[in-house]
Amino acid sequence: MSLHFVEFELNGCQIDGMVEARRTLLDFLRCDVGCTGPHAGCEHGVCGACTVLVEGQAVRSCLMLAVQANGKTVETVEGLSGGPKELHPIQQLFREEFALQCGFCTPGFLMTLVALDRSEPRPNAAEMREALSGHLCRCTGYQGVLRVIDRLTEDRK
Ligand code: FES
Ligand code: FES
Repeated sequence: MSLHFVEFELNGCQIDGMVEARRTLLDFLRCDVGCTGPHAGCEHGVCGACTVLVEGQAVRSCLMLAVQANGKTVETVEGLSGGPKELHPIQQLFREEFALQCGFCTPGFLMTLVALDRSEPRPNAAEMREALSGHLCRCTGYQGVLRVIDRLTEDRK
């Protein structure tokens, strides 16, 4: 088993560790770093629950190797807010629109929406819906998420 040194910026903090070449970024974050916001759902790129931002781009961390994150910036849902009283504006919209039930899928939805909301030109509602079509919610709570998209795009009019 060969181990590789990996270091990257995680939610503004520099982290490092030794990882097997085959270890996914998802497993490294959850099991080695203790950053459990990215959830392990399907673990083969289908559900979106593991989505994190790498260099600002939404990435399925179950499909990326930890060594591929070396030298990059990684953001997870833990980095979005300063705590329950300081939610990120998109988290606040999820709260107001009841856009979560069990919450298992929610970090993935949030990270993809944050990436879209930061991008220029900003996507319209149809483009946001399309981007979220690869996220699965076992609780089928999609209507609330669609209301969040409407709010996000209304705020821009
Ligand atoms: S756990 Fe990565 S896409 Fe489902
Ligand atoms: S809120 Fe339960 S899986 Fe989406």
